[in-house]
Amino acid sequence: MATYLDGQFVDDADATVSVRARGLNYGIGCFGGIRGYLADDGKQVLVFRVTDHVRRLERSTRLIHLSLTVDRDQLARLVVELLRRNDVHHDVYVRPLVVSASTELSPVLREEDSRLAIYCLPLRRYMDKDAVKVCVSSWRRVGDNSIPARAKATGAYINSALARREAFDNGFDEAILLTESGHVAEGSAEHVFLVRDGVLVTPPSSEDNLEGITRRSLVTLATEDLGLRVEERPVGRTELYYADEMFLCGTGAEVTPVASVDRRPVGDGKPGPITVRLRDRFLDVARGKDPARRAWLTPVWT
Ligand SMILES: Cc1ncc(COP(=O)(O)O)c(C=O)c1O
Repeated sequence: MATYLDGQFVDDADATVSVRARGLNYGIGCFGGIRGYLADDGKQVLVFRVTDHVRRLERSTRLIHLSLTVDRDQLARLVVELLRRNDVHHDVYVRPLVVSASTELSPVLREEDSRLAIYCLPLRRYMDKDAVKVCVSSWRRVGDNSIPARAKATGAYINSALARREAFDNGFDEAILLTESGHVAEGSAEHVFLVRDGVLVTPPSSEDNLEGITRRSLVTLATEDLGLRVEERPVGRTELYYADEMFLCGTGAEVTPVASVDRRPVGDGKPGPITVRLRDRFLDVARGKDPARRAWLTPVWT
């Protein structure tokens, strides 16, 4: 498997950093997660909104005083080049990762310490269930004034991992984390949408969640293509229990219906009609079935 590291493609086993790296010792890094979808011809792979992913990664790096090391266009080209080098003709996940490789002892942020790696792996479904059972975590989401959840910072995923572990230990599939003030923030690696009386509701990123690309895409598809209303506003915990439908979304999770929250069924516990319409629309667009949304997709093979 070829992996990109600092200007060259190397064998995955050779894409390494020192155990002393600040990236490892203090979690100083940030990353992206991008999907490529196999098109209907069984050969073409379409990378979903790569320009937006690259822009977000650049913003994340700036926030934590790292540097992308290449410009945005180059990074988008490297993502495609990586998939070509690995002869990818399947659904795939691409992970660009910027870490501090400095081996000095103290946790200091310095742009010049940045190293860029990009690797890929086959990925069909991230959550292998038609509908998931979620809980509200006892862990709170990291706050904007501690480790900003708006950026995709490596160290912040300890927070996600603690919440997921607690959820698994208690027999759930996923956790929803609240902000310190008790509003819905997001899942461990997904955004949350509710449907209430036919209206889609989702908390904005000022509620301590990542600036999400799937969420933004779904808002566009819901409002422009399906004529649905969307409200981006703070969501109280108990609204989760009132929801007619609920789903999680993200690059990994795509659109994953929620069957229950804290063992309370959402609707009748089956994926709701609005969720299903939006999920189908999203997957059609991602697999290149709608020429009107082709601008979101970058073909790997010419
Ligand atoms: C914490 C967190 N929230 C939300 C998301 C979903 O964001 P996106 O749709 O941009 O992948 C992710 C996944 O990338 C994530 O890690």
